[in-house]
Amino acid sequence: MSPLIAPSILSADFARLGEDVSTVVGAGADWIHVDVMDGHFVPNITLGPAITAAVQKVTPTPVDVHLMIENPERYIADFVNAGADVVTVHQEACPHLHRTIQLIRDAGARAGVAINPATPVSTLREVAADLDLVLVMSVNPGFGGQAFIPAAVRKIEEARELLSSAGSEARIEVDGGVDASNAARLVEAGADVLVAGSAVFGHTDGAAAGVRALRAALS
Ligand code: DX5
Ligand code: ZN
Repeated sequence: MSPLIAPSILSADFARLGEDVSTVVGAGADWIHVDVMDGHFVPNITLGPAITAAVQKVTPTPVDVHLMIENPERYIADFVNAGADVVTVHQEACPHLHRTIQLIRDAGARAGVAINPATPVSTLREVAADLDLVLVMSVNPGFGGQAFIPAAVRKIEEARELLSSAGSEARIEVDGGVDASNAARLVEAGADVLVAGSAVFGHTDGAAAGVRALRAALS
């Protein structure tokens, strides 16, 4: 599988969201990453199902919804109905993780589970075979533009080992501080979806150049 690039619209210009999404898709983005924050699980408040639906109307590109919220099971149907193709919940927010994964799949989306920097990969052992995606956080979730935490590289390797021993073909996504300087190392460790917010939308030559710089770093 060639690595996918998933720009995070958290760093887009919300007043020009449609144009920004079209720009990154035109430059070769594979997924659009939507960061949903509730002010409880993480300190920030961001986007919801209405924005997800708006993004989905602009492009056929898969929409990758990252739920950084408490009680995510309450909102799974809303996001799938809004057009989410992948719904990722946080391990730390789900005491009944197995049930939550089934809810996502039953709703018709691919199921992902994210782990914070302090959460071991081994916490996913019992659900590894049921997952479509593991999201290794390389920053503490809540804000774009934070510095990459290097220990994420080892966790990506561990996630790759865990998934192969479970016979799973789930993708491994990495999110936080990803840019052209670390992208190749992350893919080498086993990542196959790279989320990037500030490296794309904050690129000095514009968001299309940001996507191309990431792609170039992988070739
Ligand atoms: C952080 C979010 C990320 C964030 C990435 O909580 O989950 O998706 O937008 O932004 P950058 O690439 O700027 O670290
Ligand atoms: Zn994210």
